[in-house]
Amino acid sequence: MYQFTITDTEFNAFRAFIYDIAGIKLSNEKKSLVSSRLGKRLRHYSLNSFQKYYDLMIASPQHGERQITIDLLTTNETYFFREPKHFDFLASKILPAWKGGKTFKIWSAASSTGEEAYSLAMLLDDKLGSRPWRIFGSDISARVLKAAQQGLYLQNRIDGIPKEYLHKYCLKGTGEHEGSLLIEKALRQKVSFASVNLKKPLENVGLFDIIFLRNVLIYFDIDTKRQIIKQLVEQLEPNGYLFIGHSESLKGIHDGLEVLAPTIYRKI
Ligand SMILES: C[S@@+](CC[C@H](N)C(=O)[O-])C[C@H]1O[C@@H](n2cnc3c(N)ncnc32)[C@H](O)[C@@H]1O
Repeated sequence: MYQFTITDTEFNAFRAFIYDIAGIKLSNEKKSLVSSRLGKRLRHYSLNSFQKYYDLMIASPQHGERQITIDLLTTNETYFFREPKHFDFLASKILPAWKGGKTFKIWSAASSTGEEAYSLAMLLDDKLGSRPWRIFGSDISARVLKAAQQGLYLQNRIDGIPKEYLHKYCLKGTGEHEGSLLIEKALRQKVSFASVNLKKPLENVGLFDIIFLRNVLIYFDIDTKRQIIKQLVEQLEPNGYLFIGHSESLKGIHDGLEVLAPTIYRKI
């Protein structure tokens, strides 16, 4: 298939766009990735340059082509029970100490296609029994949120789900959904998803006992990280927990949080 060439000026324009909107820093090495991901949109509109696509995208309404560009420039890799030590910590340290009395709430703050949110839901349902809980998942990409809301996954994407949970919480697809797996309805009803851009001021997301903010900080520079962490700490209940990804760090920017383990923090 024909590959369009992106000039430095064009690449810089898209780079500035995604940084301004989402805080995502694209290094020079991402040039060919940007060109291949956005190339499909040039073909879609029969355009012959990235500049023409940029002009069309910038002139589009917020939920139109701009959103598609955001969807294409974010990296959404995720899987069920990713970084299992976090789930072990939750099951062995946090949940047994939970006194109940109100709804236990977790926010999966860059949820991608929902695997993290549903992994948390399975664990809470299993460990909290009849005590109430809710999961909120959010992301900046409309495409991944749509998939998350469906809760339908390909069979080859479910490796991390413990066997017992597969039987208890997942339905095997039949007919047109052969080869897929659907998260069962009772669990899906306790998990909601909405669009939240972490770079912007947060509007009424509420307070949470735990926030999972994993594998997204790596895309931000230090100032954006600081701003995001500050906002998220305000959304934690007193003594609430913040989990970040294993390859991420809050070095120098964890005001208001004590470090429990290298990627696990608690609000002071
Ligand atoms: C690699 S995925 C991480 C998914 C999951 N948390 C995990 O650890 O498997 C990163 C997600 O962050 C989202 N993201 C990037 N910038 C964002 C922003 N400014 N606001 C909200 N979500 C953002 C992307 O759309 C993407 O789905």
